[in-house]
Amino acid sequence: MAFLNSWKNAIKNLDLKIYKGDFTVIMGSSGSGKSTLIYLLSGMDKGSSGEVILLDTELSKANKKEMEKLRREKISFVFQGINLIPDLNAYENIAAPTYKMKRDKKELTQVINELLSRFSMSEHRSKFPSQLSGGQKQRITICRALINKPDVIFADEPTGALNSTQGQEVLNILTELNIEGQSIVMVTHDLKAAVRANRLLYIKDGRIDGEMKLPEYDKDSHQEREREIVDFLREKGW
Ligand SMILES: Nc1ncnc2c1ncn2[C@@H]1O[C@H](COP(=O)(O)OP(=O)(O)OP(=O)(O)O)[C@@H](O)[C@H]1O
Ligand SMILES: [Mg+2]
Repeated sequence: MAFLNSWKNAIKNLDLKIYKGDFTVIMGSSGSGKSTLIYLLSGMDKGSSGEVILLDTELSKANKKEMEKLRREKISFVFQGINLIPDLNAYENIAAPTYKMKRDKKELTQVINELLSRFSMSEHRSKFPSQLSGGQKQRITICRALINKPDVIFADEPTGALNSTQGQEVLNILTELNIEGQSIVMVTHDLKAAVRANRLLYIKDGRIDGEMKLPEYDKDSHQEREREIVDFLREKGW
């Protein structure tokens, strides 16, 4: 997807391509425009000028129906304020994005069961969000994000509300998905999250101020990656 935009001066003359299959991480100080950028990229917000091409669709030219379909079927969100529907149980929350689609019931049940099992959540399938821990809720959010096999997952501080063990679990899941080919665009303040990226973008005052490429994540090089990222961020004045 390609991108050029500006919006309420939070994003200024920014020109960016995000590549398929990448684990792209966006960092920058508070107020630098990270969330704004991810809202613009994902079509949650419209810019004042410029264009966003998301998976061959120019967002400013898409009508409401096309946008809804794109959001429902092609992209997914995993945000910090864990936003599960409180009146639906875990299973129903995962199924929620499929309600307007004509998906085979049996196939859907099978896919949800596989997701629950993969993320060790099978025994919690009937619990409501209020009966789940933060990490468990986030895992259900990720299951829900995967239900329609999205082309890209957008995540804004997905580990922000989690303790470090829960955060690592979620990051392991995201890394595993990326290694399988899932494109991910994630905003984070957390070095432990950033280290999972294979492309790191640094944003300052609404502009891309630097970029760093990394090989695909593997545990053995964790420390070394962390050191490289710290050096990069220091140079950027983080
Ligand atoms: N709805 C809005 N209207 C006007 N200005 C806004 C709006 N939302 C955010 N801003 C401003 O745009 C700038 C970028 O905000 P943004 O939320 O993108 O920052 P961020 O990098 O995500 O920060 P943080 O790390 O604190 O989440 C900030 O100066 C903010 O005050
Ligand atoms: Mg933000």
